[in-house]
This record gives sequence, C-alpha cells and structure tokens, in this order.
Amino acid sequence: TRQLLGFAREGKYEVRTLAVNDLVRKSAQFFIETRKEIDADFQLQEDVHPVEADAGQIEQVLLNLYINAGHAMPKGGYLHIQTSNVVLREEDARAFETKPGSYVRISISDTGVGMDRETLKRIFEPFFTTRAQEGGTGLGLASAYGIVRNHGGLINAYSEPGRGSTFNIYLPSSVEKVEEERQEPAQGLLAGSGGILLVDDEPMILEPAAQMLRMLGYTVYQAASGQDAVTLYFENRDRIDLVVLDMILPGMSGSQVLEMLMGINPEVRVILSSGYSLQGEVQKVMEAGCRGFIQKPYSMREMSVIIHQALAPSAGRHERQDGEGNPS
Ligand SMILES: Nc1ncnc2c1ncn2[C@@H]1O[C@H](COP(=O)(O)OP(=O)(O)OP(=O)(O)O)[C@@H](O)[C@H]1O
Ligand SMILES: [Mg+2]
Repeated sequence: TRQLLGFAREGKYEVRTLAVNDLVRKSAQFFIETRKEIDADFQLQEDVHPVEADAGQIEQVLLNLYINAGHAMPKGGYLHIQTSNVVLREEDARAFETKPGSYVRISISDTGVGMDRETLKRIFEPFFTTRAQEGGTGLGLASAYGIVRNHGGLINAYSEPGRGSTFNIYLPSSVEKVEEERQEPAQGLLAGSGGILLVDDEPMILEPAAQMLRMLGYTVYQAASGQDAVTLYFENRDRIDLVVLDMILPGMSGSQVLEMLMGINPEVRVILSSGYSLQGEVQKVMEAGCRGFIQKPYSMREMSVIIHQALAPSAGRHERQDGEGNPS
C-alpha cells in the first residue's frame, strides 16, 4: 500500500540521524505563519535524542497532523507541540505493539472539536474521513501511520469531543551523532504567494498538494480535467501566476491543454508533472515553452522549490542544460 499512501516519495528514502527539535520547529513554521488565528507553543526537551529517519517523510507526517489540527480549529485555537525522551517498558511496548526501549516522543495537541470513540477507533484506516464533503481523502493519518511504522515507531491519539486531540509519535532514539545538514538550496519547504492552478485527475495527488500549497501561502485553483483547467484558467487568468499540469489526463491530453492555455495567454507559466521521466512526449511539450518539469510522485519540498523558482521574477523559459545556450 505504500504506492497508494506515500504520495510523496516512493523509492527516495534517505535515512539520516536527525535532530528532532529542528525538524519539529521547521515543519511547524509555515503552518504557524499561514494560520495566524492559531497560537502555537513549543515545549521541546533540550537534550532530546536524535532519531534515524527520512526527514522528508517525518515532515510529511507532522504536516498532516498540523493540517488536521487546523481543520479541527476552524475558528482558531492552540497548538501545543512537545518533544521528550521516553522509555517504553515491556508492558507499555506490548500494549503499543512495539519493542521496549528508548524513544523520542513528539506530541501535538490541539484545542479543536475532538473526536468521539467511534471516530477515534478508525482514524488510521485508509480512506476513513469525516471530511468527505470538504475533499478529505482519509489518507493523511493512514500514511502517517505507515511512515511511522516503517521507522520502527508508533503513533497514537487521544481525544474527547469538544476537548481537542493529542497525537503522539514515538520514534526509536538513536545513539549516533546528528549529521550536519547538507547545504542544499532545496532544504525545507519554501513559502510563497500568488495563484496556482493545479491540474491532476488523481485526487490523491491533487488534494494533498493543494492543501500544502495553500498552507505555504498560495491561492490554489484545482482542476481534475483538461476542460476544467482551460475554463478555470480562462476565468481567472489575471489571478493565476502558474499552472502545474499533469501530462496524462482523461479526455484532453496535457499537450492539448497547454496549447489552449497558450492560446489564452502566450506568456502562461506552466510546470509539467508526469509519472514518466522527461522524454518523448514530455520533452516535446517542454520545448513548446515550459518553466519546469516535476516527476511524480513528487515530495512537497521538490514541489515548493520548483514553484518558487518558476515564480521568481528572473525565471526565464525552461532551457535545456546541454552546454551551449544556442540551439544548433
Ligand atoms: N486533530 C484532529 N481533531 C479532530 N479530528 C481529527 C483530527 N485529526 C484527524 N481527525 C479525524 O480523523 C479523520 C481522518 O484523518 P485523515 O488525516 O486521515 O483524513 P482527512 O483529514 O479527513 O483527509 P485528508 O487528510 O485527505 O485531508 C478526519 O476526517 C477527522 O475526522
Ligand atoms: Mg488529514
């Protein structure tokens, strides 16, 4: 089910020794900045142990929890984020179906609507959602569960209706030293602003991507078909600064959509996304004038970086990186 659940990053695990507090702070930052009506406070144990983990995946888990907390507090509230070293003894470990030992616990509490028992029992099931009307897929917590389990950890939740909810993530502590952050520009999610039209017929990609981009500060328009994309673009072309276009769509193909978008606005900024790497059809469309390409499944970090670049004032059209600037 990883295929299904981990929309972000199959096959790209990168386990490193990570400083938990940094990760927690960094992942919360954009959420806090974009949801001013929510007050967040941190209670991070200073000497909390590091963990062996894929930073991108854990970040994704935390973001899912923040977003859920946000949904539970539509009128605002408190988000309490805590880290601490804990030891799970034999009997606790057995109850949680995990190994005894030393863990780092990350707790995220909200003062939102909370959940009744029946809901609480089912929240980690794939496709269980009480937010179907609002476009919830019910995959957020299922994927969080999968990721944490893959890290040898566990996730659980406590809640009461009207009293908010607490989610605890336990990750096995590491005795290694934290690895220095590599100085890549692609570290972390990049916030931004402007209008983005996301075109993808796969709700499992469209919905979470739209949510994350909204959280990063963008205004997001969503289209699940080429026809919708063209209509939405036509109606909102003054507000849409960038289009992220899936190549494979039912009905109209990605290249047909691109052609129509360019008919509406020859200067339209488009990033292509596709499950196939950059070759053949995609390559042709790229040459027709696109700002970039992102291969699916993409991580939010990749997405945020590419969008940032494409929206940069100096960003030119996509140029092939084959040495000479002049086409021969
Ligand atoms: N912090 C929370 N407070 C109250 N209810 C919650 C909270 N987090 C999750 N839930 C409940 O658990 C359900 C499942 O959450 P999950 O993240 O898996 O899916 P979703 O949020 O409904 O959909 P998606 O993540 O695709 O937007 C939610 O629909 C909601 O009923
Ligand atoms: Mg969710």
